[in-house]
Amino acid sequence: MQLSDYIRDIQDFPKQGILFKDITPLLLSTKATHLAVDELYKKIEGKKIDVVVGIESRGFFFGTLLAQKLTCGFVPVRKPNKLPAETTSQIYALEYGEDKLEIHTDAIKKGDKVLIHDDVLATGGTAEAVCKLVEKLGGEVVQCNFLMELSFLSGREKLKNHEVKAVITY
Ligand code: PRP
Ligand code: MG
Repeated sequence: MQLSDYIRDIQDFPKQGILFKDITPLLLSTKATHLAVDELYKKIEGKKIDVVVGIESRGFFFGTLLAQKLTCGFVPVRKPNKLPAETTSQIYALEYGEDKLEIHTDAIKKGDKVLIHDDVLATGGTAEAVCKLVEKLGGEVVQCNFLMELSFLSGREKLKNHEVKAVITY
């Protein structure tokens, strides 16, 4: 079984000219979902992880499953004004304008070894902002871990001070 067989291309979504990698067929298959978690887990190579940070929203699917497999906690990073307790935020640049991501300030303890997970690494702006959030709270980013990497967008360059792993590279 090939994981990539469960990822479908959608032309011109969300905008004209963009080829969207849709993981919903993968999520519909228990076998493929198990395999995806196993493959993500293998990329961690036995490193000690205290907490998995998953990025809203598509980073939640496998982030929580991965935390279960690692037997550690899961922390959601969310879009603005979604988290109820005190938050720490990070602004980051989009193609046009900017956006903001938030994390609960008490979710990461100083010295925590953190795995950041998201479904896809594209330009790297999102993951870079999350690295900054984790570091603001005193956490150590052990790895940025993705199901897919769109290597032609060079997201790794923004994450060059961190270890970056992806299961599928396009
Ligand atoms: C997508 C994707 C990653 C991010 C990657 O999320 O799920 O989180 O973009 O892009 P970047 O590397 O260029 O920053 P999106 O913001 O579309 O939101 P969603 O996960 O809620 O669908
Ligand atoms: Mg996302």
